[in-house]
Amino acid sequence: MAIGTRLVGLLVVGLAGAAPQVSQPSITVSTSLSSTSTSPSALPSLTNEEQDELFSLHEELVNIPSISNDEVKCAEFVSDYLEELGYYVEQVPVGNTSTYNVFAYPQALKDEGVWPEVLITSHLDTVPPFYPFERREENGTIFHYGRGTVDAKGPVATMIVASHKFFQSRSDTPRLGLLFVVGEEIGGTGMKAFASYAKNTTFRAAIFGEPTEGKLASGHKGSLGLTLDVKGKSAHSAYPWLGVSAINYLAEAIVALNLLEPALPKSDLLGATTLNTGLIRGGVAGNVVAEAANASVSIRIARSEDDAVSVVRDLVTGFLSPLVERAKEANATFSLIFANSTYPAPILDTDVEGLEVAPVFYGTDIPSLPQVKKRYLYGTGTIEVAHTPNEGLSQDELLQAAEAYGLILRSLFPPNSTA
Ligand SMILES: *[C@@H]1O[C@H](CO)[C@@H](O)[C@H](O)[C@H]1NC(C)=O
Ligand SMILES: *[C@@H]1O[C@H](CO)[C@@H](O)[C@H](O)[C@H]1NC(C)=O
Ligand SMILES: *[C@@H]1O[C@H](CO)[C@@H](O)[C@H](O)[C@H]1NC(C)=O
Ligand SMILES: *[C@@H]1O[C@H](CO)[C@@H](O)[C@H](O)[C@H]1NC(C)=O
Ligand SMILES: *[C@@H]1O[C@H](CO)[C@@H](O)[C@H](O)[C@H]1NC(C)=O
Ligand SMILES: *[C@@H]1O[C@H](CO)[C@@H](O)[C@H](O)[C@H]1NC(C)=O
Repeated sequence: MAIGTRLVGLLVVGLAGAAPQVSQPSITVSTSLSSTSTSPSALPSLTNEEQDELFSLHEELVNIPSISNDEVKCAEFVSDYLEELGYYVEQVPVGNTSTYNVFAYPQALKDEGVWPEVLITSHLDTVPPFYPFERREENGTIFHYGRGTVDAKGPVATMIVASHKFFQSRSDTPRLGLLFVVGEEIGGTGMKAFASYAKNTTFRAAIFGEPTEGKLASGHKGSLGLTLDVKGKSAHSAYPWLGVSAINYLAEAIVALNLLEPALPKSDLLGATTLNTGLIRGGVAGNVVAEAANASVSIRIARSEDDAVSVVRDLVTGFLSPLVERAKEANATFSLIFANSTYPAPILDTDVEGLEVAPVFYGTDIPSLPQVKKRYLYGTGTIEVAHTPNEGLSQDELLQAAEAYGLILRSLFPPNSTA
């Protein structure tokens, strides 16, 4: 209540002056990368043959369109590829769909009857539309362009090559499994299916692959989805007093949320909680008072505490409640529908020497697999080109990622330890 009142004050101030803009504080952790050649625990670099295999695997993966809900061909390719390398492959079904997650681990583990205790994992699906692979040289550097080059077939290809090299470097058989899931871009359906499939297991660690610009991510933002839904009453636009405009209530709510944004919880690691109203729908014509309107809002939560989601939900509900009341008095209904799939910001593990560390702001599959003790997030390429027609990265970035995965694996399975 008190908070609501204070924020109504903020709303008035905001309306009187310019709307406050949220600026994301820039968070830099350190500047020197290059890591791999100097670290004492680095694996030997990829041979020329292994490098060529990495580049052509990346190309093949990108050239198999795998837009969410249509990933079977790509899953088949990865499944066959890993089987040919000698791995035991489980095809983990996802709901009642024909698609599946690819879960592979050494045949020796299968023979011993043990399951992996560490996962290295990324996703096979991409956002639409498909852009084919293209290799281009620019300023003396070779780049790979195309849908999924960064998000996340760069991680998929580098994880496969790096893990295979890692297994080959060992005399024992590390209990490591490679997991490539579907449906990441549509709410994590694949990872959720795997979490339920593996519900009998708590994994010691997992390495997740999403574009982090070659840095180990110290955390990422939480997520809360919200639909604003207003039902009013239609009328002739010349007699608006005979109706109740759903669009007017919705518009007020969107402005109010933007004013509330700077007051949402912040954290030192992840900066501001931000929100985006990304879709609005409603009305039928300019000369009709709108009977119905709705909007989809995505809130990215900066705090990691267990109650972070409920704190944000209460702030939003409290702040909009006067408007909801006003709509009710006008015989309209104004509903706030919060998504079920929400999570506070995950804080991630960074105890690997030789890698630069920084947070990222997007969401991942990590919260969909709760039964993991240590969680690492690393990937090559930048989120700034992911989901765009310019998606691409350099071959050097792929090589850097393969070495970084080797470093993380080596830190999780120290040499000479018994498997
Ligand atoms: C699969 O599940 C979805 C969602 O529960 C349902 O809409 C669909 O009808 C199901 N399809 C089949 C073939 O059972
Ligand atoms: C290549 O160099 C030009 C000139 O310095 C620069 O504008 C361009 O962005 C560079 N291209 C890439 C891909 O780095
Ligand atoms: C856990 O479940 C998986 C998949 O159902 C199974 O293959 C595995 O053997 C189970 N592990 C144990 C320890 O029961
Ligand atoms: C949102 O509004 C549009 C246009 O009025 C309508 O077609 C759609 O069903 C509404 N969606 C929801 C979730 O209410
Ligand atoms: C809302 O509906 C009630 C019952 O139909 C009616 O008495 C009241 O006048 C309406 N209020 C407005 C603001 O239209
Ligand atoms: C949340 O889950 C409940 C129960 O399964 C369901 O009735 C409701 O429609 C879901 N809400 C949303 C926004 O998906």
